[in-house]
Amino acid sequence: MRSLLHPLRGGGLAVALATLVTTGCGLLAAGTAPAVAQGGTLGQLAQASGRYFGSATDNPELNDSAYTAVLGSEFGSITPGNSMKWDTTEPSQGQFNFSGGDAIVQFAQAHNQQVRGHNLVWHSQLPSWVSNLPAGQVQAAMENHITKEATHYKGEVYSWDVVNEPFNDDGTYRTDAFYNAMGKDYIADALRTAHAADPGAKLYINDYNIDGTGAKADAMYQLASDLKKAGVPLDGIGFQGHLAIQYSFPSNMQQNLQRFADLGLDVAFTELDVRMEMPSDSTKLATQADYYRQVTSACLAVTRCVGITVWDFDDKYSWVPSTFSGQGAADLYDENLQTKPAYTAVQTALGGGGGGGGTDTTAPTAPTGLAVSGTTASSVSLKWSASTDNVGVTGYDVYRGSTKVGSSTSTSYTDSGLSASTAYSYTVKAKDAAGNVSAASGAVTATTSASGGGGGNPGTGAVKVQYKNNDSAPTDNAIKPGLRLVNTGTSAVDLSKVTIRYYFTGDGGAATFGAWCDYAAVGCANVTQKVVALSSPKSGADHYLEIGFTSGAGSLAAGANTGDIQSRVSKTDWSNFSESDDYSYATNTAYADATKVTAYVGGTLAGGVEP
Ligand code: XIL
Repeated sequence: MRSLLHPLRGGGLAVALATLVTTGCGLLAAGTAPAVAQGGTLGQLAQASGRYFGSATDNPELNDSAYTAVLGSEFGSITPGNSMKWDTTEPSQGQFNFSGGDAIVQFAQAHNQQVRGHNLVWHSQLPSWVSNLPAGQVQAAMENHITKEATHYKGEVYSWDVVNEPFNDDGTYRTDAFYNAMGKDYIADALRTAHAADPGAKLYINDYNIDGTGAKADAMYQLASDLKKAGVPLDGIGFQGHLAIQYSFPSNMQQNLQRFADLGLDVAFTELDVRMEMPSDSTKLATQADYYRQVTSACLAVTRCVGITVWDFDDKYSWVPSTFSGQGAADLYDENLQTKPAYTAVQTALGGGGGGGGTDTTAPTAPTGLAVSGTTASSVSLKWSASTDNVGVTGYDVYRGSTKVGSSTSTSYTDSGLSASTAYSYTVKAKDAAGNVSAASGAVTATTSASGGGGGNPGTGAVKVQYKNNDSAPTDNAIKPGLRLVNTGTSAVDLSKVTIRYYFTGDGGAATFGAWCDYAAVGCANVTQKVVALSSPKSGADHYLEIGFTSGAGSLAAGANTGDIQSRVSKTDWSNFSESDDYSYATNTAYADATKVTAYVGGTLAGGVEP
């Protein structure tokens, strides 16, 4: 094919921006986004900060003219979703077929877009002839595949995902055909081979679940730093960014990108989408918009974050519904190619004007219908009706009197750690992605119930649980919550009357469990553990771990906490859990109040909310 490398394109229309600097390799210097004329495409807005904004696409879609009209105008970069993968390009050994990838490159060139090549070496969509090769023949087959494909597209792709998804979620290497034949050195070999074939392409390693800090990102960091030290031609790390609103936003995203950038690497989001449990609703779409906004802001905050690619821009052609059962609506445009709140959030974050130009200064409407949905001796549960916003509501702040006590992305909240028989007044405010905050809702007053303890034992009921996650691997065979009980009352609590419940799902395998105390500040001998099945399973919970105390644990003084209790649960067949959707699960690794872990005094719910 014609050799033509497009350095960085802003979308169908070329934008003349006199302030942009072109560096030696043709990339624009990244910096702060200058103000851009209203109505700029995402591609143009990103280009104004020296970055690209791209989308995946696939060959069948290229026949959909409504779709290609957006694809060709809105994005400065495209990536073939499938047609450059090994099963398409070399379905049998030595038989190459580049027609699908060529069609995508042609579309890109016709629309002044650059191409991210995806991908050369991957365990998936790998034809069986490769996996069936004797180990001694895998390296030659891999090098030949890389050489042929990277040579074919030489000068036509801006970058290559040379190695895709080398790691398991726990940070160990994936034992695919390449690893089994060559060990981890296959990665360096693949990069060197690709560099020899196309010295002008930026060479990436790409993976998912490395968007925030954690074991898998640490493993990638170690690999990247080893490769850089060894002088291997690695130019960038691709963060796939397949996110889901039912999981918390990846932790420390900006710092995580920055540490890779500090190794002298480019970083990019390569397959961004944000899925949700269907059906979607305005609250979920607002949370999704906020996730997209946060990713965009994290990239803009890191000079070497060169661009963002969404893994298709529209729900019509998203890969999500067929891959994640019951989930969808993951993209910036809906199935009718209409922009969603997520689009506006990205546009705003890139410095563009939402609709009428300028940044969004319209606050959401005040929440209405604030009501008390439950009280205990130590907590008040609230609910309200959703606010509306010109872009999208991203969450709510809850105030007790004039003190902000917490935030919620849904239309409910439980305020815990309160005193018994006490009246509290609440209001709620809504907020949007641009930071606009609504007027306060009407106030509601709630009175906590009387404490359970009588006869000179006041203070029972005034407890709360704090939780931290001691387990960085949510899909291994153990659940490891760190828990501690805090006495929020004014008098001592007899610990032998207290129990704590951590809710989870067994996720298949054996329905019998073992539970251990790994450490307890009050002494493991004074802590009891058992796993109890829920008679009617709830979302995220068909069992709970119940922690209790023997009389040896003594009493807990007012204001004191029990200190660390480190527990561990496994199934008797040691099969793996999938913890991320567990009711009580959260990803914080430092102690924080946990309303989804419950506490009981004398058998009465005293803290937290049951599933
Ligand atoms: C997906 C494609 O979008 C689907 O059409 C295909 O059926 C499976 O692969 N991580 C990757 C991408 O690196 O190549 C995957 O693409 C999505 C997950």
